[in-house]
Amino acid sequence: MNKEEVPRHIAVILDGNGRWAKQRSLPRHFGHMQGCKTVEKIVEAVARLHVSYFTIYGFSTENWNRPKEEVNALMRLFRYYMKRLLVVAQKNNVKVLAIGEKSRFSADIIEGVERLEKQTKDNTGLTFILAINYGSRDEIVRAVKKMNQDIQVGSLSLDEINEENFSQYLDTKEIPDPDLLIRTGGEIRLSNYLLWQCAYTEFYFCDIYWPDFNQEELIKAIKYYNKRERRFGNV
Ligand code: IPE
Ligand code: IPE
Ligand code: MG
Repeated sequence: MNKEEVPRHIAVILDGNGRWAKQRSLPRHFGHMQGCKTVEKIVEAVARLHVSYFTIYGFSTENWNRPKEEVNALMRLFRYYMKRLLVVAQKNNVKVLAIGEKSRFSADIIEGVERLEKQTKDNTGLTFILAINYGSRDEIVRAVKKMNQDIQVGSLSLDEINEENFSQYLDTKEIPDPDLLIRTGGEIRLSNYLLWQCAYTEFYFCDIYWPDFNQEELIKAIKYYNKRERRFGNV
């Protein structure tokens, strides 16, 4: 694939882990386990394609409302995959960043995420962004609060606020907006993901469950993206 055909930033809503497991009469956490393996494979594929930014929705602010045993199983998986991800990141020159409100996680998970970020910060290839306890509305509300603090101390005035400096208060500051958003699992909605950032993103929805997603499906999505005529309000 030519370099100019590859989107700079691909964002993914991985969906369908539970249904993938159900289809096989397995407990939901098997679907999540398989989903983590897909994350690894797709991170490697995306790095090989020279995509610059890849953002994955790992856990939403709403996902805490799932049954306790599913949330616990997901936390156990995070603990394990954080270590795996470090190996994958180092092998593929990938820099890892996390977005979302980390403080709700237990201390060891927060430490694990921070370790991942710290130990990969000098990698120069793909930037892999993990959205965990992420919700766009929560992110925007936190940004408004931070902005208000700067107004209180006088480093920002109300008149100075514009789209550009507002976006610097979001978790995604310094990350360009996604060019392509892929959602697997057949649902056609954003589920509180990157609402501000996806203002002009191209959307690709597919029915395939995330554990079955692979490089071939990724290429399909990129080909679809290349057929779009991107407009940013222009004619
Ligand atoms: C996505 O798969 C993974 C997370 C939200 C953590 P789901 O668990 O939502 O799978 P379905 O949608 O129930 O099939
Ligand atoms: C979105 O998937 C959240 C993540 C992929 C982490 P969900 O399965 O939670 O979304 P809804 O509930 O179908 O909208
Ligand atoms: Mg789902």
